[in-house]
Parts: sequence; structure tokens; C-alpha cells
Amino acid sequence: MPNKSAIIIGITGQDGAYLAKFLLDKGYEVFGIFRRLSTPNFWRLQYLGIFDRVNLIPADLIDGTSLVEAIKISEPDEIYHLAAQSFVGASFEQPVGTGEITGLGTTRILEAIRHINPKIKFYQASTSELYGNNKSGIQNEDTPFRPASPYAAAKLYGYWITKIYRESYGIFACNGILFNHESPLRGLEFVTRKISNAVAKIVLGMESSIELGNLEAKRDWGYAPEYVEAMWLMLQQDEPDDYVIATNEAHSVKEFAQKAFEIAGLNWKNHVKVSQKFLRPLDVNFLRGDYSKAKEKLG
Ligand code: NAP
Ligand code: GDD
Repeated sequence: MPNKSAIIIGITGQDGAYLAKFLLDKGYEVFGIFRRLSTPNFWRLQYLGIFDRVNLIPADLIDGTSLVEAIKISEPDEIYHLAAQSFVGASFEQPVGTGEITGLGTTRILEAIRHINPKIKFYQASTSELYGNNKSGIQNEDTPFRPASPYAAAKLYGYWITKIYRESYGIFACNGILFNHESPLRGLEFVTRKISNAVAKIVLGMESSIELGNLEAKRDWGYAPEYVEAMWLMLQQDEPDDYVIATNEAHSVKEFAQKAFEIAGLNWKNHVKVSQKFLRPLDVNFLRGDYSKAKEKLG
């Protein structure tokens, strides 16, 4: 049987790079969609040593024709849709752009699949942000959504349109409801990497402090390379479905900072300042995922 092929939309991001490595190791032919920027952004693929092993295709989520072209060229068995304006804070500054890219972008891909080859399997990068400020102490696939940012509202649209295309057209389309996941490849604006980067600079004497926003928010933080395997597993099942991927543990930003400074032999209180600049108009206070379904069905 010939090797399978996959398109990763958003291959230049954290998850895209790890998933590309994972699929290459499984023997897949990997196509990666990236958007044209004035300065190429392939550092993650280079860091993982796979830049020369992926086929890169330029396309943009706001340009449906470019997505159609990319799918026609590569004839994939599976599409992993990981591209998004993924920074929650920025979605308050660019709410319409976030809706266009993170919300409608998903429909553009699903429409292309429907017209070109509805047998292509589809993974949608859904998120624990969908739960927003839901009052439950733990969230699973049946917990009601209550999005709390333009990003989460756009992702809620993406979640539902994925289900709608599954139920209307029989497309093998899955939502992975992934809780926060981090790694050395995480973008520097997200809080874990922002803190670890600052700790390193402070230890090296390049900086003396870091400004953060809401220290009380709690997140269920996992490890990105493990979470991309869960994406792949979802597309290998007999039936398409939606799954929560999480660790079942919640920790605060304060705890994270404390630990990160402690590891470098420093007291966080001497270096962390709270700044209004990093407070969001509305924040999600508590996320903790119940992964029972994924454990049972995906192993
Ligand atoms: P990321 O590092 O921010 O990567 C996002 C990717 O989307 C990048 O490759 C980016 O390209 C691309 N992109 C942005 N706008 C685009 C456009 N208009 N056209 C084409 N590509 C575009 O995000 P991540 O952490 O890997 O997350 C992957 C996905 O999972 C995202 O959809 C995110 O919302 C979702 N998610 C993430 C987490 C998490 O904790 N990491 C949890 C749940 C869900 P550039 O490199 O050019 O910017
Ligand atoms: N980024 C950032 N910067 N966040 C801060 C800061 C800061 O200086 N100070 C406090 N925080 C708080 C945020 O207010 C939030 O409550 C928490 O730290 C985590 O923020 P981020 O790391 O930016 O991640 P996020 O939880 O908002 O969103 C990430 O996870 C989602 C899954 O739940 C992103 O990866 C989303 O794309 C993803 O869907």
C-alpha cells in the first residue's frame, strides 16, 4: 500500500511543526501550507531538522482559491487544519480579522474538501477556550460552551461548521478540543514561553523584570508533542468524533511563574510586575479537562 499523504495547514506554528515531524516518522508524505510573509518563518521546521523533508505550498486562509489549489496539487488523504489567529489577547484588538481567519477560514477548507474529494479526512483545531467562563469545575465533551473572547467565538463557529459538514455531507471531520499545550517551540507571546524566556534573560543579566497580566488564571497545561499524536489518532478511528485532550490538572499563572523562577534559583516576587497592559477585557479564569473519552477510545 502506498504511503499516506497529509496537508498541515499552519505548518509554521508550534503544533504544525511537531505534527509534521510525527507524520514524517510514520512514513507520510507531508505537505505544509504557509502564508507568504516578508520574512520567511520556517525556524520551527529547521529546529526539528525537517525543513527539507516537507513540501511547502503557499496559501492563505482568507483566500479560498489558494486553498483549493493546494488541495488539488497535493491530493491528500488527511488534512490537519491548525492555522489560526491563535492569540486570544490579539483577538480583542482584531476581532473582525480573527473571525475571518479563525472562523470562516475553516469553512473555506471544508468547502474545498466537499468539492474536490469528500473522502479526505479533516481535523479541526478546536480549543478549551470554547468553555470560556463556564461554571463547571471540569470540562468534557458534553459541557456547555460559553466563549469569552472574539477568538473563542470564531473557534465556536469553526467547531460547529465542522460538525455540520460531518452530519450534512458525511465528511470524516473531527474536533480535537485541546486544552493549552506548550513546548520550547511555543510562540513567545504566550504566557509560558514569555515567562521562561524572561527567566533566561534575567539569569543572563539581560533583563531584570517581567510584566504580566492576570496571575490568578488557571490553565490545564500539557505538552505539545504528545497532543499532536492525539490529533492523528482521531483520524485513524472507524468513525469521526470529537475529543477533549487534557491533563486533568489546573495550575495558576502565578504557580507557573513561581516554579520557573525557582528552577533558576530566583524568587519570582523580586522580578514579576503586574501591568494593566496585559490584562484582557475579559479572561477565562479556570480550565481543567476531563480526558476520559479520549483515554477510552483513543487509548
Ligand atoms: P500557532 O503557533 O499560533 O500557529 C498558528 C499557525 O497558523 C501558524 O502557522 C500561522 O502562520 C498560521 N496562520 C495564521 N494566519 C494564517 C492565515 N491567514 N493563513 C494561513 N495560515 C495562517 O498556534 P499553535 O499553538 O500551533 O496552535 C495550532 C492550532 O490549535 C491553532 O488553530 C490554535 O488556535 C489551536 N489551539 C492551540 C492550543 C494551544 O494551547 N497551543 C490549544 C487549543 C487549540 P505564521 O507562522 O505565518 O504566523
Ligand atoms: N499571553 C499572556 N501574556 N498571558 C498572560 C499574561 C501575559 O503577560 N499574564 C497573564 N496571562 C494569562 C492570560 O490572561 C490567560 O489567562 C493565561 O495567562 C494564558 O494565556 P496564554 O498563554 O496567552 O494562553 P490562552 O489560554 O489565552 O490561549 C492559549 O490556549 C488556548 C487553549 O485554551 C492559545 O494557545 C489559544 O490559541 C488556545 O486555544
